[in-house]
Amino acid sequence: MQTILVTGGAGFIGSNFVRHLLERTDARVTVLDKLTYAGNLASLDGLDPARLEFVRGDVCDAGLVDTLVARADAVVHFAAESHNDNSLEDPRPFVDTNILGTFTLIEAVRRHGTRYHHISTDEVYGDLALEDPARFTEEAPYAPSSPYSATKAGSDLLVRAWVRSFGLLATISNCSNNYGPHQHVEKFIPRQITNVLDGVRPRVYGEGRNVRDWIHAADHSSAVWAILRGGRIGETYLIGADGERSNLDVVRGILGIMGQPSDAYDLVADRPGHDLRYAIDPTKLRTELGWAPEYPDFAAGLEDTVRWYRDNEPWWRPQKEATEARYGARAG
Ligand code: NAD
Ligand code: DAU
Repeated sequence: MQTILVTGGAGFIGSNFVRHLLERTDARVTVLDKLTYAGNLASLDGLDPARLEFVRGDVCDAGLVDTLVARADAVVHFAAESHNDNSLEDPRPFVDTNILGTFTLIEAVRRHGTRYHHISTDEVYGDLALEDPARFTEEAPYAPSSPYSATKAGSDLLVRAWVRSFGLLATISNCSNNYGPHQHVEKFIPRQITNVLDGVRPRVYGEGRNVRDWIHAADHSSAVWAILRGGRIGETYLIGADGERSNLDVVRGILGIMGQPSDAYDLVADRPGHDLRYAIDPTKLRTELGWAPEYPDFAAGLEDTVRWYRDNEPWWRPQKEATEARYGARAG
């Protein structure tokens, strides 16, 4: 039985991956998480305590990170500041956690010769034109637009250099937009669902034409596990599930599921530097590792997600007021 260190395991996707490991493999898991505003221990409720250890701490804490990496057979690094809008307000925590945190972790991984998987985003490749049939591949040039995506790009490049210079036993994945249970209410889909539950109209940036490539978080988790087991060292794998939708399509989908008129939303000021379109070509992951999504039906996944937020108000309610107060201060 392996012990896997999962950083950011109390966040949205990290907790989903911990659930995947405990429910579908025989691995033991140590979670390292700082419990920032985005971390929530309740996202790990119900998991087998005999195989799960939680450590509250910072990925920038070199002593703690070294101790935990020394005890692990593999490390999967999810911890990050993850929200573009926040990075436009205050980029500093993004530089600290995403760049210095990754540096701290890969130095420990290098010392101990540990297998490492680096979680990243399609945003490192910048954006695509709306009407362009092109999609991102592993060979796309790096061209990040926001402070968030620039720090994720920086962290990816550190990992690539550590592979080349020091033989780090690393793989990297760049995934598209995730949705599903336990996503913080600052993000687009849960923000609009919980707004409607509160009797507030959804707020769509600009004209709502921007396109995101949606994937269920559970499919992200199964892809990461496939890469950890079968991925080639030094390689990058793009993760996506052919889920391109405009923001207007998504918001109309939410309104339909929730019994509201399809035009019951407001267009608000656009996000500065707002990327137009992301789209992933997942051919390498599918052909090389035989991965396929278990939740390819976005409409069904969105319905399940709406139901989850309806049924789990105690999970999201404590975050809602402060999140909307931050958006209110930006007039978004
Ligand atoms: P999230 O904001 O929901 O969770 C981040 C977690 O990291 C939280 O639990 C937080 O407490 C923890 N954390 C933050 N700073 C830390 C630090 N200094 N030390 C230790 N823990 C810290 O984020 P998410 O949406 O689950 O994203 C997880 C990872 O996946 C990130 O690396 C993100 O870049 C990447 N990613 C996200 C998406 C998406 O659609 N959300 C898509 C592709 C890739
Ligand atoms: O592509 C992967 C990335 O997806 C991840 O790396 C990021 O961590 C994750 O946050 C996400 O980034 P986005 O900026 O695409 O996600 P967000 O949920 O913030 O916004 C999705 C789209 O919806 C985007 O075009 C902006 C728009 N939006 C967002 C909010 C919060 C709105 O129109 N209204 C809103 O209120």
